[in-house]
Amino acid sequence: MAKVAFIGLGVMGFPMAGHLACEGHEVCVYNRTPGKTQLWEDEFAGESAATPREAALGAEFVMTCVGNDDDLRSVVLGPDGAFAGMAAGSVLVDHTTASANVARELALIAAEHELGFLDAPVSGGQAGAENGMLTVMVGGEEAFYKRAEPVIDAYAKMIKLMGPVGSGQLTKMVNQICIGGLVQGLAEALHFAQRAGLDGHAAMEVISKGAAQSWQLENRHQSMLAGKFDFGFAVDWMRKDLSILLDEARRNGAQLPVTALVDQFYAEVQGMGGGRWDTSSLIARLNQHS
Ligand SMILES: NC(=O)c1ccc[n+]([C@@H]2O[C@H](COP(=O)([O-])OP(=O)(O)OC[C@H]3O[C@@H](n4cnc5c(N)ncnc54)[C@H](OP(=O)(O)O)[C@@H]3O)[C@@H](O)[C@H]2O)c1
Repeated sequence: MAKVAFIGLGVMGFPMAGHLACEGHEVCVYNRTPGKTQLWEDEFAGESAATPREAALGAEFVMTCVGNDDDLRSVVLGPDGAFAGMAAGSVLVDHTTASANVARELALIAAEHELGFLDAPVSGGQAGAENGMLTVMVGGEEAFYKRAEPVIDAYAKMIKLMGPVGSGQLTKMVNQICIGGLVQGLAEALHFAQRAGLDGHAAMEVISKGAAQSWQLENRHQSMLAGKFDFGFAVDWMRKDLSILLDEARRNGAQLPVTALVDQFYAEVQGMGGGRWDTSSLIARLNQHS
C-alpha cells in the first residue's frame, strides 16, 4: 500500500480518491473548496491538507484531477503547489483532461526536481469513476508507469502506457474526436426517427443489435428521447476538450472538419443555456424548433 495525495475532489476526483482509501492506501486529499474535503472525510478514511504542497508531503504518488491547463499549473507549481512538497523519486499522476503541451511542460519541471510525471487522462465518466471502472491512457516514462499502475488500478478497468509524456492526452483527444461525431450522428438519427413517426425506443432497440451499436447509443438514447440532460459530462468541459484537440490538429495537420462543426453546435447548445448539460444535448439543438 502506498502513501498517496489526491488533489481535486470534483465529480471525478471525489470517488477516485475514495477508491484509493477503500483499497487501503494512505490518502491525503486537497480541494480548493474546503466543504468538499469535509464531505470526503465524512465518507472515507483519510486525511486532508490545506494546500497541495502539504498534501504532497511524504507522498509516493500525487494524483491530480482538476479542470484545465491553468488549473493544473495552479495546483502543481508555486510555493503552495504539489511539486514544492514532493520528495525526489515521487511521481505526479495527472488525471485532468489537458493539453499535451502542459504535460510536457510539467514533466520537464518535474525532472529538474528529480520527480516523475505521468499524464493519465481518463474516460468512463462519472459512473466509471464511481464504479472504479475508468479507462486510463498514460504518457510518460515506463519506470514511473510501472510503479504507478498498481495504484491507479484502484479505480480502473483498463490502464495503458501509450508512449512518451503527452501521449495519454493525445489518446484522450482521439477519444473525444470519436465521441463528438458519434453523438451528433446519434442525435440526427433520433431526430429523424421522431420526424419519421417511428417509435424511437423501438428503433434503437433493433439497431443496437446491428452495426450502429455504440456506448452512446446504449447509454444515452433514452435520456435523449426524453430531453433530459441534467447529468453526465458537461458541454462546457467538452468544448474545453475540443478546443485543446483542434489546437493540436492545427499543429499536426490533421483534418477534422466534422469535429470542428460539432464544436460549433456545442457553442449553440451553450447559447441555449446548456453549458452544464450532458454532451448528448446536441439533440436539443435539432429539436428546438420542433
Ligand atoms: N465529468 C466527467 O464525466 C469527466 C470524464 C472524463 C474526464 N473528465 C475530466 O476530468 C477533469 C475533472 O472533471 P470533473 O467532472 O471532476 O470536474 P468538476 O466536478 O468541475 O471538478 C473540478 C475539480 O477541480 C478543482 N479545480 C478547478 N480549478 C481549480 C483551480 N484553479 N485550483 C484548484 N482546484 C481547482 C475543483 O475545485 P472546487 O471544488 O474548489 O471547484 C474541483 O475539485 C476535467 O479535466 C474533465 O474534463 C471529466
